[in-house]
Amino acid sequence: MLTRFMTLETIEAWLRETNPERLELLWQTADKVRKQTVGDEVYFRGLIELSNYCSRNCLYCGLRGERKNLERYRMTVGEIKACVLEAKVLGYGTVVLQSGEDPGLDPEVMADLIRWIKREAGLAITLSLGERSEAVFRLWKQAGADRYLLRIETTDDAFMQVIHPGEPHGSRKANIDRLFALGYEVGSGVMVGIPGQTYGILAKDLLWFRERDFDMIGIGPHLAHPDTPLAKVNTNQPDQVPNTEVVTHKAVALTRILCPEANLPATTALATVNREDGREMALKRGANVVMPNVTPTKYRKLYEIYPSKACIDETADMCKNCLGGRILSLDRKVGKGPGARQRNKY
Ligand code: 5AD
Ligand code: SF4
Ligand code: FES
Repeated sequence: MLTRFMTLETIEAWLRETNPERLELLWQTADKVRKQTVGDEVYFRGLIELSNYCSRNCLYCGLRGERKNLERYRMTVGEIKACVLEAKVLGYGTVVLQSGEDPGLDPEVMADLIRWIKREAGLAITLSLGERSEAVFRLWKQAGADRYLLRIETTDDAFMQVIHPGEPHGSRKANIDRLFALGYEVGSGVMVGIPGQTYGILAKDLLWFRERDFDMIGIGPHLAHPDTPLAKVNTNQPDQVPNTEVVTHKAVALTRILCPEANLPATTALATVNREDGREMALKRGANVVMPNVTPTKYRKLYEIYPSKACIDETADMCKNCLGGRILSLDRKVGKGPGARQRNKY
């Protein structure tokens, strides 16, 4: 029953499971599938948080536009290029260019930057720049971008409207369709334990990952930010999913089983709730990717999606060494090259 064909009811039952022996079976199955499909390599994605401006107001996020007590920054093209070269020197095969939904990021400037990265650094390029028009997605793909991350956060229409005020109905799913049609490798994902998220909703999200056959799926706990509306919401509702490490692991492990070939990061949010060995635990329970930050340290604390984020004061070099050691301690290998999604090995 722990197979990629499991039903919605089975997924929900596993999300609720608390018996340690049963959970051990879940962890072991996810780890076995991970080894058979994506192998022992752990790929590094160098994360560049290039702007914290955002025109949206997602109820959970510390970068939301209505939050006024946050100093905003947008890196210059020169600063971004320096980060890309640093990622290359560190041996990373991919850079992830991430920002809030920043109207000040000129699509043509980004396209020039994408061409420059391909020409000068030869790295795989993942974009995580929010919802854009089809023309802009196409421009960036044609410029050389390989992958795009757009977390769905929830597949439930009513809940979607609550947590994303003002967002046009169905726009995320439509944008994900466009990204697939344009030939991007597409990533999505959810947070675990957003106030209002029920076990039934989360189970449906995981099933949807399988249906859409995502190339990458990021899953981390929701960490309430005091300056967001969700910090004030009561989470004692019946059926509320808790934002704990173990429930997040269940979601990651189930996703590995449902989407055997997907690249699954051990997220920074998981490293934040358990600084000791949060990433290692995720890597043992289905994950196969890490996303070390290469943003200049002076900007990191301003990319405050949630408070007390891990690796705020470290440098790119420190994170590389830290992660490399953690991966070797698990008897895993540091992946070389871009680490694209491989198909049909399973
Ligand atoms: N806690 C954890 N993750 C968050 N994100 C946004 N706000 C939070 C939070 N409070 C995640 C969302 C978003 C990504 C940029 O960060 O999933 O897609
Ligand atoms: Fe903006 Fe993304 Fe945060 Fe939403 S989740 S407020 S789009 S940065
Ligand atoms: Fe950044 Fe460990 S990964 S310090």
